[in-house]
Amino acid sequence: MAFDDNFLWGGATAANQYEGGYLEGGKGLSTADVMTNGAVDQPRRVTWKNPTTGETGSTPFGFGASNCQVPEDAEPAVLDGEYYPSHTATDFYHHYKEDIKLMGEMGFKVFRLSINWARIFPNGDDAQPNEAGLQFYDNVFDECKKYNIEPLVTLSHYETPLHLAIKYNGWADRKLIDLFVKYATTVIKRYKGKVHYYLTFNEINMMEMSGYMGGGIINATEQTKAQGAHNQFVASALTVRAAHKIDPSVQVGQMLAYGPLYALTADPNDQLKAQVDMQNTYFYADVQTGGHYPAYRIKKYERDGIKLDDTPEDYELLAHYPADFLSFSCYGSSTVTTHDVDGKDGGNFVTGVKNPYLKTNAWGWATDPQILRIALNNLYDRYHKPLWIVENGIGWADEITADHKIHDDYRIEYLQQNLASMRDAVTIDGVDLMGYTMWGCIDLVSAGTGEMRKRYGFVYVDRDDKGEGSLNRYPKDSFYWYKKVIANNGEDL
Ligand code: BG6
Repeated sequence: MAFDDNFLWGGATAANQYEGGYLEGGKGLSTADVMTNGAVDQPRRVTWKNPTTGETGSTPFGFGASNCQVPEDAEPAVLDGEYYPSHTATDFYHHYKEDIKLMGEMGFKVFRLSINWARIFPNGDDAQPNEAGLQFYDNVFDECKKYNIEPLVTLSHYETPLHLAIKYNGWADRKLIDLFVKYATTVIKRYKGKVHYYLTFNEINMMEMSGYMGGGIINATEQTKAQGAHNQFVASALTVRAAHKIDPSVQVGQMLAYGPLYALTADPNDQLKAQVDMQNTYFYADVQTGGHYPAYRIKKYERDGIKLDDTPEDYELLAHYPADFLSFSCYGSSTVTTHDVDGKDGGNFVTGVKNPYLKTNAWGWATDPQILRIALNNLYDRYHKPLWIVENGIGWADEITADHKIHDDYRIEYLQQNLASMRDAVTIDGVDLMGYTMWGCIDLVSAGTGEMRKRYGFVYVDRDDKGEGSLNRYPKDSFYWYKKVIANNGEDL
């Protein structure tokens, strides 16, 4: 048997890309609600307004595109005449019963979703939580229960209540630690017995690339991003401590964006570059899962003149309350070199050169058939903690036929390769793996480009890049394939 009977097969989503209902049920605005859509060659934008002069504008923004430069005295804001994909997304808010039924039909054991912080505390610093928001997720978890689906809840997936971004500059301020822990404890108490797995910050290492997306930090600098990451580490430790107290059966995991980094050549300079570049990812897990600031990062902060607003208690908390498990997203590998070569590689976290051995999709993301085995071994060897793949998949501009069929054999092929490599890590190498959730299991908005046409799902949603479409759901060929994979527990891919 490749996987044990408790192996958690399922799919993953995020509120800002899937839920919609952006002002319904008392929800407040989040940082994602002021992001327009973009395209493969056109960055998303954050729109802003100066509340005194009324002047409006926008700043290009996206994974690594900028640190969200908003003019002094202006604030990110929703503007008339702009299109914001998060506002309706693919409308899980009104389709949750239908969607969870489809997940049940595929045999999901787990469904990863995020709670939108601004649905629970509309401004982030409200005295009382918003009951309608809490009730919405109660309804969702009750629906999951009907199909024996375990929820895996991300507490913060690329969205901070907008008010906190404007008032405190988001996670750059230590104030966010207490506000987040209040939010986290509110939901962990409320959903006691219904939710057993939480993740604190989606791809916490996003802070490295974008302070705004990772932590609601406007005009971020290396200093404010370092502080933002530190504040999130402390908040994570406090959440682990609180969760165990509220319900010892709850596990709180870290969520890291992880892609193996290859050196293009055997030149030791290339090998060293791969090793050093990888520290920008490992740092986040060394602290949140390993419990300590690594020496290489302390040295870097000294060199760069970065000084943290910290306390000795912070470091005790980090050491005593590390994440219970390490979850990660993994889409592709990166390749780096110190030599001059043509061609850049794509991907949200992929910033290297083309790997001549790999094929790419229309967005330049490479498919790497060995990636999960390599990633799982690297992370297990370093942290010795249970792992969980909570994102993996491929974006594609799927075509729908007149009779609503989607023949996505390219997606099946990608997943077959990836799952085979994941299975090898478990059966050959003995990695302790808790589960696998395919990213965007029902079509949703792309985080990187804000597009609908970049689809990941097993289920097609009729919605386009202008926000038009019936929002009807149609299973793709991969839906039936994944159902079989779950039924035979990964024996036959
Ligand atoms: C991960 C994010 O980085 O990649 C998701 O956690 C995102 O939110 C996913 O959707 C795929 O990226 P994209 O840009 O294709 O949506």
